[in-house]
Amino acid sequence: MSKFIISKSPALSGKVEISGAKNAVLPILCACLLTEKECILNSVPPLMDVYAMMDILKSLGVKVDYDNVKQVARIKAEKVSKTKEEYEMAGKLRASFLVMGPLLARRQKAKLPLPGGCQIGTRPVDLHIKGFTALGAKIKQEHGFVMAKCRRLTGTHIYLDFPSVGATENILMAAVMADGVTVIENAAVEPEIVDLAEFLNKMGAKITDYGKSTITIKGVKNLKGAKHTVIPDRIEAGTFMVAAAITGGDILLTNAVPDHLGAITSKLKEANVEIEELSRGIRVCAKGELLAFDLKTMPFPGFPTDLQAVFMSLSTVAKGTSVITETVFENRFLHAGELIRMGAEIKTDGRIAVVDGVKKLTATQVKATDLRAGAALVLAAMVAEGETEISDIFHVDRGYCLLEEKLINLGAQIRREE
Ligand code: UD1
Repeated sequence: MSKFIISKSPALSGKVEISGAKNAVLPILCACLLTEKECILNSVPPLMDVYAMMDILKSLGVKVDYDNVKQVARIKAEKVSKTKEEYEMAGKLRASFLVMGPLLARRQKAKLPLPGGCQIGTRPVDLHIKGFTALGAKIKQEHGFVMAKCRRLTGTHIYLDFPSVGATENILMAAVMADGVTVIENAAVEPEIVDLAEFLNKMGAKITDYGKSTITIKGVKNLKGAKHTVIPDRIEAGTFMVAAAITGGDILLTNAVPDHLGAITSKLKEANVEIEELSRGIRVCAKGELLAFDLKTMPFPGFPTDLQAVFMSLSTVAKGTSVITETVFENRFLHAGELIRMGAEIKTDGRIAVVDGVKKLTATQVKATDLRAGAALVLAAMVAEGETEISDIFHVDRGYCLLEEKLINLGAQIRREE
């Protein structure tokens, strides 16, 4: 299994281009199931999760043509010959459940494995299911599968108990071709929801007020093909911003959207990092001493849970005591144990971590326990004395496009060993 070997890096400098957003492209790929016409997607990053989703689409009978150099995907769901997803394929990523909404809309039935728990929490799909039921689907759970069918979906009023990103996306995709009007209340407002809604509207859907907590969807008879460029990945952008901060660097991010990065920019400023919005991109400059900060993860526009681990790495070497509260997932501090092995001083109690900044981290062997924890360890390794070995980096490959190439370009000393 591959691992990263990372030496202490100099201050990072240079320019890095942010890739298309993993969490935007995955639902958008699923949305292509809604039309028999071809959809063309630009800025599709070559990530393990993206390949896994494309394999799922192919297994349902969809034609997928992907140029991973140009990062362009052509998807044609002329026929959706299968409506059952195999466990082996679905188990690779939780987003596999996002084909449920489009399959119900297009084929009025679907049989998908119930996504299991994962390292960061149990991650149920009850809110997705409540939404489909409200739209008129009959749902049965048996032998680890969710079976859904309907005659037609009918527009309705749906209130989400929590603004779940996945549930909002799945319900949105089911409702676009339902009879009548659907209103989703307490919907997620993440930029990835906006990107999906914009793609669906290009396909002919009638969605209004997306990006707000009450979304209205007027059902249409059918959808057509569309061309779309996926938004830049705000989590990748945040990761590079912290990479610059932790190494005392000065880098320019291109293809990043400042409006998506408000909470991240604010936290970095609290940590004494300078952020400048230029016409060329976002400049991150960390010349002063890093200072402790408190953060609490929340749905957008709050601080993203996907950057909690990476910011914990930053706090381990920031002067003072930082308090980090995770409110979105119940078990998302697995990286803390690995950071402690590198000399960090962290105490966790349930959803709260208290981090006392140390003068230096020291290299050792550590393990990526999940995608973002892996990224957090990469950043910590760049400031640790000695050579850090990070195993299980397949987690990192799920969601970061060319991570080591981009870091090496900025001056980091990182190599992959198979
Ligand atoms: C998406 C992102 C993930 C990110 C998360 C929160 C993708 C592919 N993944 O995941 O990177 O960390 O948003 O920003 O876009 N929940 C329920 N019932 C449900 C659905 C969710 O209780 O039916 C709970 C979850 O267990 C979790 C919280 O709601 O505690 C947030 O989950 P959700 O917003 O649905 O995250 P995902 O869409 O799975």
